[in-house]
Amino acid sequence: MKPIVSEKDFPTAAKFVYLNAANVALMYRGAEQVIKEWVSDVAQYGSNNFDEHAEENVFKDLHRAAAHLINAAADDIAAGSSATELLCSLAWAVSPGKDQNVVSTEIVFPSTVYPWQRVANSTGCEIRLAKEKNNFMHTDDIIALIDQHTAVVCISHVEYGNGQTFDLQLLAEAAHEHDALLVVDATQSAGAIPIDVQASPVDALISGAYKWLCGPFGAAFMYVAPHLSEKLEPGLVGFRSHKNMWDLDASRIDYPQGTQKFEFSTMAFGCAVGLTRAIDFLNEVGVENIFQYNRQLADRLITGLRSRDAVITSPLDDQDRSSIITAYFENIDSKEIIKGLKAAQVFVSSRAGAIRFSPHLYNTAEDTDSALAEIDNCIAQL
Ligand SMILES: Cc1ncc(COP(=O)(O)O)c(C=O)c1O
Repeated sequence: MKPIVSEKDFPTAAKFVYLNAANVALMYRGAEQVIKEWVSDVAQYGSNNFDEHAEENVFKDLHRAAAHLINAAADDIAAGSSATELLCSLAWAVSPGKDQNVVSTEIVFPSTVYPWQRVANSTGCEIRLAKEKNNFMHTDDIIALIDQHTAVVCISHVEYGNGQTFDLQLLAEAAHEHDALLVVDATQSAGAIPIDVQASPVDALISGAYKWLCGPFGAAFMYVAPHLSEKLEPGLVGFRSHKNMWDLDASRIDYPQGTQKFEFSTMAFGCAVGLTRAIDFLNEVGVENIFQYNRQLADRLITGLRSRDAVITSPLDDQDRSSIITAYFENIDSKEIIKGLKAAQVFVSSRAGAIRFSPHLYNTAEDTDSALAEIDNCIAQL
């Protein structure tokens, strides 16, 4: 397999075997550099350089880069500090009411559904979670929960626990048939799986920075389709929510046009600058290339795990899978293997009794082979 990134972009990737992007990816070196520069500038010069004009315009490049990533318009992107924060603001903005429901899955990452649950605690709306069967969430079981009272279908594009990928076009159609919104948490897919919000007309899509986007903690972006953002009042507001933010007029809020109305406060701005740099880099490499490359790494892992009689719990059909692979070995505690792997400098995660491998663009075929060889060593020693 020919590498698709160079060692200088991820200088530590060859120092250990890091198969853990679904937890925290290695950060793109260019992102790390600009974050350090930004922090250092503000530490030493206060707002001399990062002045009011710079603060007002700090997210412009992120709007452009994230829009390019998902085929949206820059005006339809907002920056935030985390996926959860943006989801909370959106959930309060939509505020499904007493006679309405929100549909999600019982295996979704809690932060994807908790914001809706919190709103439901106030408004009395119903939360409906589709049940998994044998570690798989049938899309039909999600669709079966949607009815004329559904306000929102909120799913994770890729499930963090088993790597299952949902068909956004299919879910958008099912939601729209009932005039419901499709809200997508793309934290486990953006940067690794091509997303096109024109081809798959989701109503909102959110991603944090520190996983497949190879950015830092402390930044995220949200897309809200124009038909929706024009109707919404953000759940979280602050001085930045006013269209002329430096008016500092406490007597009124005139929201900016587009999704940028969801930007409300100061934040660790350097993280947004770092995320921008990371997304620009991924756009240059090409998400389709990353997707194909990661799939080859995942295939190699699957073949190796199967030949060792591991039980693979991730879906393996082309349309359902991602490069997150979960597996366990009969009668062996996965946590013991994970501990042994860590001691051998192979980093993976433990999820639902299985070992979760999540290779990304900086990994190589040698990484997957070393991980498999270390699994053999661990099992031999147990
Ligand atoms: C699907 C999903 N959404 C959201 C999050 C958390 O995102 P943030 O830390 O940006 O709020 C995670 C973290 O694992 C996740 O897997």
